[in-house]
Amino acid sequence: MAALRKLIAGNWKMNKLAADGQDLAAEIGDYAAAAEAPACDLLVCPPATILQTVAETLGGGPVAVGGQNCHAEANGAYTGEISAAMLADGGASYVILGHSERRHGLGEDDASVQNKVSAAHGAGLAAIVCIGETEAQRDAGQTLDVLSAQIDGSLPPAGLDGANTVVAYEPVWAIGTGRTPTNEEIAAVHGHIRACLQQRVGPAAGQIRLLYGGSMKPENAASILALDNVDGGLIGGASLKASDFCAIAAAADNQAVN
Ligand code: PGA
Repeated sequence: MAALRKLIAGNWKMNKLAADGQDLAAEIGDYAAAAEAPACDLLVCPPATILQTVAETLGGGPVAVGGQNCHAEANGAYTGEISAAMLADGGASYVILGHSERRHGLGEDDASVQNKVSAAHGAGLAAIVCIGETEAQRDAGQTLDVLSAQIDGSLPPAGLDGANTVVAYEPVWAIGTGRTPTNEEIAAVHGHIRACLQQRVGPAAGQIRLLYGGSMKPENAASILALDNVDGGLIGGASLKASDFCAIAAAADNQAVN
């Protein structure tokens, strides 16, 4: 399979007020606009309150903007929620769905993630669907089974392609901990995810980008991004500092296939 153009995505989580967010976005935008223009796709996912501000700062340039969650319904009496169309209206072209902090912290299940993915697609957003095993599941040797079940349950049965769907493998125990699986483990898991996608969507699976997420940082990015079936990264902590995020982007650029 030919290598896919890599996607380096920053998940800002519940961090940054407008001024800081604008500064961070501007630095990343400057990196992307520099002479050695990125040979990877760049994405930042700020909190919803500053999504539009960040989109305006980036001015439709090469760095895309995404939301961190959306509701499955298009509108209605859902106090505090935000729809996929609202994210799109604010300038988003992606949305992260099924992040483990929502699955485990807020009780989101596969069925609800699947409904949200459909809503995102309906609003023209690309969905970054997160999957990953807990440490207990890993210790019990259940990692691949857990991931297969999450893929089956979280992805709509039809209409998936490389333009509207990205899958992020984020071992729950690696998020924000500084711990990562070995490169061999990541490669094995990503190969498994690719095979599951092939069963589910056929040849289009070859176009769906698979991101690794969980304590990715400048020091480990190049070796992780070089692995088979790793088509980018979903970065939390290291996405809050422009120099770290851009160093990871540079690691992806250096491996670009174009
Ligand atoms: P981390 O977070 O890079 O801080 O581990 C990744 C994520 O939660 O997407």
